Amino acid sequence: MSRIHPLPPELVNQIAAGEVIERPASVVKELVENSLDAGARRIEVDIEQGGARLIRVRDDGAGVAADDLPLAVSAHATSKIASFEDLERVGTLGFRGEALPSIASVSRFALTSRAAGQDAAWRIEVDGGKPRAVVPAQHPQGTAVEVRDLFYNLPARRKFLRAERTEFGHIDELVKSIAIAHAGVEFRLSHNGKALRMLKPVHDAAGHVARVGDVLGTEFTGHSLRVEHAAAGLVLRGWVGLPTTSRAQADQQYFHVNGRLVRDRLVAHAVRQAYADVLFHGRHPAFVLFLELDPALVDVNVHPAKHEVRFREGRLVHDFLYRTLNQALAEARAGSGVQPVAVDAGGAPPTVAATPAAAVSTAWRQGGLGLGAGAGARVGEPLADYAALLGREPGAPPAVRTSPAPSVDGNADGDVPPLGFALAQLHGVYVLAENAHGLVLVDMHAAHERITYERLKLAREGAGIRAQLLLVPLSLDLSEREARAAEEHAAALAALGFDISRGGPQSVTVRSIPALLDGADVPRLVRDVIADLSSHGSSRRIEEHANEILSTMACHGSVRANRRLGLAEMNALLRDMEDTERSGQCNHGRPTWVQLSVAELDRLFLRGR
Ligand SMILES: Nc1ncnc2c1ncn2[C@@H]1O[C@H](COP(=O)(O)OP(=O)(O)OP(=O)(O)O)[C@@H](O)[C@H]1O
Ligand SMILES: [Mg+2]
Repeated sequence: MSRIHPLPPELVNQIAAGEVIERPASVVKELVENSLDAGARRIEVDIEQGGARLIRVRDDGAGVAADDLPLAVSAHATSKIASFEDLERVGTLGFRGEALPSIASVSRFALTSRAAGQDAAWRIEVDGGKPRAVVPAQHPQGTAVEVRDLFYNLPARRKFLRAERTEFGHIDELVKSIAIAHAGVEFRLSHNGKALRMLKPVHDAAGHVARVGDVLGTEFTGHSLRVEHAAAGLVLRGWVGLPTTSRAQADQQYFHVNGRLVRDRLVAHAVRQAYADVLFHGRHPAFVLFLELDPALVDVNVHPAKHEVRFREGRLVHDFLYRTLNQALAEARAGSGVQPVAVDAGGAPPTVAATPAAAVSTAWRQGGLGLGAGAGARVGEPLADYAALLGREPGAPPAVRTSPAPSVDGNADGDVPPLGFALAQLHGVYVLAENAHGLVLVDMHAAHERITYERLKLAREGAGIRAQLLLVPLSLDLSEREARAAEEHAAALAALGFDISRGGPQSVTVRSIPALLDGADVPRLVRDVIADLSSHGSSRRIEEHANEILSTMACHGSVRANRRLGLAEMNALLRDMEDTERSGQCNHGRPTWVQLSVAELDRLFLRGR
C-alpha cells in the first residue's frame, strides 16, 4: 500500500500560513495590501489585544462579488494573475492567491463585502480553515475582513506571540511603512477601541512631505535631501537623511519598489556605499525611497511573504541607486541651502533641532549615469593659500592681514556668498563668519579635512595625485616590517604621490609627498599611510580601499588646531567649502559648520523684534 497521500486542504493552507503569517502584523500586511489592490481610498485597521484577539481591516475598494467569496478564501485562487506571462510582470501587491486561505486556516475568519455596482453585501466565515455558506450581510461598498483568535488552533504558534504592546508596535510600524508609500489613501489605526493614527489622504508633493513627517517625525523631513532622478527606465524618488542626523539603528530605512516595501541586500549595499564617505562606522542613514521600474524587470515571486524581490538587471539597479544617492549627498555642500545642524537657541546647549524641510534639487549633469567629478570641483588644483601658509612648519610667513575683510553690511551689491565673510577665529579651532542669515561657525579642521579629501579623490580619479619634491630628501627610521612594506608597496605609494625607497633594513628615504599635503608632518604621514597599505595587503584590496587611505592622508594635510588664520585665509577656506562636494560633513560624518540666525541670536538675548 502506498505511504504517500495528498494532504487535506486545511493542512496545506496551514503549511502556507507557516511561511506567510509570522505574527499579527503579517496578517495586517496581507489584508491592507488586498485593500490597496482593490483600489481603496480609505483603509481602517482595528486591533484588539495586539492582534491576538481581533484584526479587522475595512476598505472602500472594489469589493468581492457573492459568487467569488468561496474562491477568495480557497487556495491558489486569485483575480490578479492568470498566466505565466502575468507572473512575469506583476503589477499588484498580491498575486499568490494564498493570503486569505492561509490566514483563515489559523484563525476564526470572516469576510464581508459588497462589490461595486451591487446593492447587497455578502459574508463568508471560515473557522480553522473550514468555509461556511455565503450569507447576506450589511456593508457599504468595499470589504471588511475580521480575523479573530489568531493561531487559536496552533497552540505552539500562539505561545510565541509577544506582549500585546510589542505586537501592536509591529502593526503600527507596518501601517506607517505602507502609508508613506500610498499617500493618496486615508489610513486609520485603532487599538483596543482607541484611535491612534489617522492619516489624511494627500495629493501633492507638499502633502507627501507632511505624511512622511507624520510617520517619521519632522526631525527627518527637516534634515533630509529630496531625491528625484530618472534614467535607463528607472525612477528614484524620496528623501535621504543628512549624514549628520544618522541613527544608531537602521530603524528608519524604507525602500519601496513599485509601491512594495522590500528588504534587499543589493539595495542596502548601494545605499551603504553611497553614504560610505560621509558616515561614521556603525551609524545608519535614514531614508524613504521609492523606486519605480517596469514590473517585467523585477521578479516579485521570490519570497513567500513578498518581503524581497529580485531585479533582473541587478547591476544596473545597484549602480543607478549608488550614483543617484552619491550625487545627492555630494550636493550637500556647505552653504548649499541645506543646514546640517540647526542650533536651538531656546535651550542652553545647542542641540539638533528641526528646520523647515530642505529641498535641494540635485543638479544632474548631462550624460546620465556618468560618475563624473562635481561641477564646482577643481581637479588637482594647487593648494589654496591658507593651507599652504598654515601647513608650513616653522618659518612660515606670518598670516596675511593686510586687506580689510569684506563685510556683509558694506557689500553694496548684496552679493554675499552662502557662508559669508570671516570675522574672526576662536580658540584656534573655529572660524566665525557673517552671512545673510546671521552667524556662521566653522570647525576649520573638520572642514579643511573634507576639502583635502575631496581634492585627493578628484585628483586620483583624474590626472593623478601630483607629487611635490621635498627640498631635502628625508631619511626616516622605521621598523623592519614597515620598511619592508614601504618597499613592497612602492608602486601604490607612487600612485599616491609618495616617492619612497628603502634606505636600509630599518630606514626609508622620502623624496616626495603629495603636493596637496604640503606642510604635513611627513614622518607621521608616511608611517600612517604605510600602516594603511600593509593592513590591506594585496594591490586589489588597496584599490578597493583607496578612499580610506586618502581619508587618512587628508587628516594629515589639514589645518591643525591652534593655528592662527588671517582673514584672507579664513575667507579662502569658506569659499573652498562652498565649492567642495560633501563639505557639510567632515570625513567622519560630523558637521563642519553651523548657522546661528539673527532670530536665534535674538532669542538667546530675549530680544523681541
Ligand atoms: N479587500 C479586498 N477587496 C477586494 N477583493 C479582495 C480583497 N481581499 C481579497 N480580495 C480578493 O480575494 C482574492 C484572494 O486574496 P488573497 O490575498 O488570498 O490572494 P491575492 O491577493 O490574489 O494573492 P496573495 O496571496 O499574494 O495576497 C484576491 O485575488 C482578490 O480578488
Ligand atoms: Mg492578497
